Amino acid sequence: MNANEFKRRRKQLMRMMGDNSIAILPAAPERVRNRDVLHNYRPDSDFYYLTGFPEPEAVAVLIPGREQAEYILFCRESDATKEQWHGSRAGQEGAIERYGADDSFPITDLNDILPRMLEQCGRVFYAMGCNSDLDRRLSGWVSDIRTNSRSGLTGPIEFLALDHYLHDIRLYKSRSEIKVMREAAEISSFAHRRVMRSCRPGLMEYELEAAVIHECAIRGAREQAYPPIVGTGGNSCVLHYMENDDKLADGDLLLIDAGCELDYYASDITRTIPVNGTFSKPQRQLYELVLAAQYAAIAAVKPGNNWNAPHEAAVRAITEGLVELGILTGDVDTLIEKEDYKRFYMHRTGHWLGMDVHDVGDYKIDGEWRLLEPGMTLTIEPGLYIPAKSKKVAKKWWNIGIRIEDDLLVTKEGHEVLSRGAPKTVAEIEAEMASGSA
Ligand code: GLY
Ligand code: MN
Ligand code: MN
Repeated sequence: MNANEFKRRRKQLMRMMGDNSIAILPAAPERVRNRDVLHNYRPDSDFYYLTGFPEPEAVAVLIPGREQAEYILFCRESDATKEQWHGSRAGQEGAIERYGADDSFPITDLNDILPRMLEQCGRVFYAMGCNSDLDRRLSGWVSDIRTNSRSGLTGPIEFLALDHYLHDIRLYKSRSEIKVMREAAEISSFAHRRVMRSCRPGLMEYELEAAVIHECAIRGAREQAYPPIVGTGGNSCVLHYMENDDKLADGDLLLIDAGCELDYYASDITRTIPVNGTFSKPQRQLYELVLAAQYAAIAAVKPGNNWNAPHEAAVRAITEGLVELGILTGDVDTLIEKEDYKRFYMHRTGHWLGMDVHDVGDYKIDGEWRLLEPGMTLTIEPGLYIPAKSKKVAKKWWNIGIRIEDDLLVTKEGHEVLSRGAPKTVAEIEAEMASGSA
């Protein structure tokens, strides 16, 4: 993402804010893993979206229309000793030269400088409740300004939820964001193909997890967007299974939900494959059912349809299929109305996708499902989960958990499947698995 893209985003937000306002955005804090070991630092998506600034201990301030500087970045000072131990810092010079700030101050000066900026502005855009330290400081500054109002300054009179405005901008992806997301999905598709080629009875689930991470990393995506789910047999029926430490057994299915993060953008792909390379008849019957539901949901992804249309299409296809196979009995419309399918399909058909795997953006507006528009990106991921000992379900269906998940872009004409590189039909999967000795 180049510097102009970040600048364009700041301008877009500032246009929405209008004059006499200030936006304050802190970088996420670093998190301790244990004792003196930290988790790898990943900036908060809102902060990074506007700044492209990758360091912790920073606060971005936007003041539209301010003459001296509209974009001010508070960040760590350069420090030769600390940089020798922990790596380079942009410092104030870098903040201006490399990250496009109009002005920059040491983060240690925040308490002295920010209140003076605040008192000039009537409206504050701030995401309350996300950073308790800054919440506290901000309310202290505002109450000080109000106490000193005899000096003629009234200070902020209105607080607005910055995240609400920003998330609506983030929902519509730009050309360069789409390019990165397409690439992220492509890299993850290679990883899924590698799993298909490597998979065989006797391997441990974590060996395939390692294969996914390795394949993504050597292609430049060194972080996963979320911890991979690699579940075989009964584990495939646990939606957020993450132990990934069971042995793959001949005759079982393997569900793998894994997607890399590339340049801060997520991919999110699930494939379900037969451990021994060939679907058994009951596995294939259920797989074809979920695939039909996924195709029906994907067909409903087009501008003008509302957010819930793909889910409704998937639910109908799944319920019809379950009745056909005798797993549910009754009238399809009644079963849908009574939500009987939820016993086997208990999650929704997708979510927004972007910098966060479950990306930001409202799904409803004024109580109504939002309409899909070009530039939005989402997942389509219907599934079926039939754990062992499911009552009134024939044994042949037990321990079958299937999810098929793709990443989609809404286009003017309909949609583009960003993750189309990952084999999906029974024939494609079996062919990919047969080709492998990776
Ligand atoms: N991998 C998380 C999800 O599919 O929503
Ligand atoms: Mn998903
Ligand atoms: Mn997923």
